[in-house]
Amino acid sequence: MQTIGNGKSVIVEYSSPNIAKPFHIGHLRTTLLGRALYNIYKTLGYHTIGINHLGDYGTQFGKMIEGYKRWGKEYQLEENPIEELTKIYVRINELCKQDEKVLENCRENFKKLEEGDEYCTSLWQQFRDLSLKEFYRIYDLLNIQFDSLNGEAFYADKTNEVIDILEKTGKLIESEGAKIIDLEKENMSPCMVCKSNGSTIYATRDLAAILYRARIYDFDKCLYVVAYEQNLHFKQIFEVAKLLGIPEKCQKGLEHVSFGMVHLKSGKMSTREGNVIKVEELLQEAIQRVKVIINEKNPELTENEKEEIAKKVGIGAVIYNDLSGSRIKDEIFDWDTILNFNGETGPYIQYTYVRTNSVLKKVKRIPEVSEIKIEYLLKEDSYKIVKLVYSYPEILCNVASKNEPSILSKFLIELAKAYSNFYNENKIIVEEEEVRQARVYLTYMVNILLKIGANLLGIEMPEKM
Ligand code: ARG
Repeated sequence: MQTIGNGKSVIVEYSSPNIAKPFHIGHLRTTLLGRALYNIYKTLGYHTIGINHLGDYGTQFGKMIEGYKRWGKEYQLEENPIEELTKIYVRINELCKQDEKVLENCRENFKKLEEGDEYCTSLWQQFRDLSLKEFYRIYDLLNIQFDSLNGEAFYADKTNEVIDILEKTGKLIESEGAKIIDLEKENMSPCMVCKSNGSTIYATRDLAAILYRARIYDFDKCLYVVAYEQNLHFKQIFEVAKLLGIPEKCQKGLEHVSFGMVHLKSGKMSTREGNVIKVEELLQEAIQRVKVIINEKNPELTENEKEEIAKKVGIGAVIYNDLSGSRIKDEIFDWDTILNFNGETGPYIQYTYVRTNSVLKKVKRIPEVSEIKIEYLLKEDSYKIVKLVYSYPEILCNVASKNEPSILSKFLIELAKAYSNFYNENKIIVEEEEVRQARVYLTYMVNILLKIGANLLGIEMPEKM
């Protein structure tokens, strides 16, 4: 299993929120899908690089800087930077609409930023740091890490080379002052590379990123875990990337791992503000809701234990929900469904795991596989588990070949269900030694696989529940 990757390199680009803008529920989904893929590729022996391609560049920063210069002191940036920065942004946009001169100032600021002006750069740095601090409150709750935070700004000084290369191919054409690559043959609208005022755009920075990553990582795959709204964007840049002179394997390895939207079962979310759900509040609410359940079910536990379980189960429920359906489908977010301990949920997997734990605690020693007589596991309820256990490596390979973590999610549910069934039908700690050994061993395999599999998805296992 660990040899499939055979040292090949896979870049998984995920999360990639925008500085000074809310981290929304779509960003939550890319974060969770990307992390799961990252972990699974790694397990399969790929050299894996996780990149958060931060949206930390663009003309909007010229506006932010202008707004901050004017009214920065009125806002409490330290506490809720993104909310406050958004207010400044809305306000400066209003002013720009009324006053052309202000808009001109904003453009000027962005130009200065591009030229490395000290003051503008220091403000930009401050917005970035503050936003990241807020994003990391979410990443810490979810236990998310990245190997690189090189986002759009990192590529700002690398776009000239892209334009040079494209000029040399003769395919970069002028259109109303802008520079574009015509993609009519591919049935797409043209890809703009340079605006008429000379500045580069989102797509240009993505092209620079492809060039850079091909050189630095020599990747076999570069996966972009981004919502399907950006389908056209990725089709365009992958087409243009063919002109960059990167190795063929890199060209072929570019892949948009797109996913559907998240809808809320309406009315029930307390965290709505306009249309934006605050992801951090959503995660905290999941934890609080589980805490209520745990207080009822396990009053004997200490406060600390309850706290820890609530966190693992609440967060686990949200993660499982995001990864359970095929990624391209839109998803419905509904508290009652995701927290149902008996449904196809994260908590159900965790609960089954805890059950296997209590069985294993009752035995003195876990037998070796060589001691097990398979004939005691051939009855339908146990054999089903044996088959599932053996299919695990193939499951991981399927996840990687389709970039579809839901295959693993479904497997874990199957395994948990099969074990619950087995557990209800059979006594495990029986007198007869060989039968007992076989059943204990089966329980042990389920215990291990549920834990390893769930961890790959980012779900942590509580020891009690
Ligand atoms: N920052 C973008 C957004 O929030 C996503 C970036 C996706 N990655 C990329 N390489 N274009 O919509």
